Amino acid sequence: MTLTQDFIDIGAIEDVPVRGSRLVKTHAATIAIFKTVDGDVFAIEDKCPHLSGPLSQGIVHGSSVTCPLHNLVIDLASGEAQGPDGGCVKTYPIEIADGRVLLKLADTLSEKVA
Ligand code: FES
Repeated sequence: MTLTQDFIDIGAIEDVPVRGSRLVKTHAATIAIFKTVDGDVFAIEDKCPHLSGPLSQGIVHGSSVTCPLHNLVIDLASGEAQGPDGGCVKTYPIEIADGRVLLKLADTLSEKVA
């Protein structure tokens, strides 16, 4: 990882598979970086709001991911779970610049561990 003023450079966008994910571990959380078929990139905590399933191992469809454990569908942009049970996953600001994936520092490394 390379540090910039406000963002952490977590790697090349081409290293994130389409309809797949890559993980970034910080002291506060494990963050899953997803890339959709349309090339959109999202960052959410790798922890399902139901029973903490690993969302990074889920199936990406459209701009959502389905949890591999019990099929809860999570909107990657909002982190909101769809369906009657609801719930929400933490999302993280992300940018792509010069083919690099950048996570905003204030929302990742500066978090306190609960
Ligand atoms: S842990 Fe994700 S749906 Fe149950």
